[in-house]
Amino acid sequence: MTLPVFVDVDTGVDDAMALVYLFGSDDAEVVGIASTAGNVPVQQVCRNNLGLLELCGMDIPVSKGSEQPVKAPLRTAEDTHGPEGIGYARLPPTNRQLTAYDAAEAWVLAAQAYPGELIGVATGPLTNLALALRKEPTLPTLLRRLVIMGGSFDYRGNTTPVAEWNISVDPEAAAEVFAAWGAAWGSQEPTHLPIVLGLNLTENIAMTPALLNRLATAAESSSIPMSVLDDRGTRSVASNPLIAVLEDAMRFYFEFHFDQDEGYLAHLHDPLAAAVALDPDLVTCRPTTIDVELTGTLTRGMTIADWSNRWGREPNALIGVGVDPKVFFDRFIARVGAFARRLG
Ligand code: BDR
Ligand code: CA
Repeated sequence: MTLPVFVDVDTGVDDAMALVYLFGSDDAEVVGIASTAGNVPVQQVCRNNLGLLELCGMDIPVSKGSEQPVKAPLRTAEDTHGPEGIGYARLPPTNRQLTAYDAAEAWVLAAQAYPGELIGVATGPLTNLALALRKEPTLPTLLRRLVIMGGSFDYRGNTTPVAEWNISVDPEAAAEVFAAWGAAWGSQEPTHLPIVLGLNLTENIAMTPALLNRLATAAESSSIPMSVLDDRGTRSVASNPLIAVLEDAMRFYFEFHFDQDEGYLAHLHDPLAAAVALDPDLVTCRPTTIDVELTGTLTRGMTIADWSNRWGREPNALIGVGVDPKVFFDRFIARVGAFARRLG
């Protein structure tokens, strides 16, 4: 049985890895892709999503989202993801077109097409999901499951000292989403609350040159292992076209993390969310109430978890608190490796 999955991304090196994981998962059928402004402007996110589909030979509707967050001005992160959002990679040209309807409408149409079955995954700012909720307030009860990569719980931020990128770009949208799911499900069993994976969890998922080389081997691709000593921007010589794109994308991400004093590695935030969307047992979670700081002069975009229920509010999220990176990477390499091998 395949699980219908709708993905909302701001592609993005790790968003691209998340999409490829889903394409390579036989237990998932990606029924739509929403493009959200974030890592790069939304037009570039659309180009990246369409180019990735061309590379992977997949036919999935891609919709363009809002050009701006619901309230704040847009910020982008080319320093982290490269000038086009996919590091040093070049995606093939494509004649594929966007849907006539926008990304918010796409969320609603997908949820209505698979009532009670659809799994939503959001790995970018929550702009489109908030706009979708305004169109269709019953969205939280239409979805089977929602997994969000966003926030940072009892842990530092990666955008400000306390705020994580996806929430920081559109804090108002995130607050709307958490409030809506809390209102719909907060008084019931926590199974339907969104699974929220913050930096406290996703920074355990560190891709390294050795793991990337294992991926190339699984794909039966030739490849030269990357090294911190390589010239910056060295292009991949992998024989497999998908592995070559992923290596070129990851090298930029490795260099960014290295410059942040995190080592020659890269955190795969979004692929963890994709994997958890298909198998929530990959993480342990705690139900709690979370909210987003909207007004703090130093803390805007911070996600606060009320572990001790001092607010006295119903829970609105299942926060990821535990993960085994080995289990994740074994599965990631098996799935993406086999998918790349089929393409090669
Ligand atoms: C998140 O921010 C983005 O840059 C990544 O794609 C990921 O979704 C991590 O904070
Ligand atoms: Ca992302």
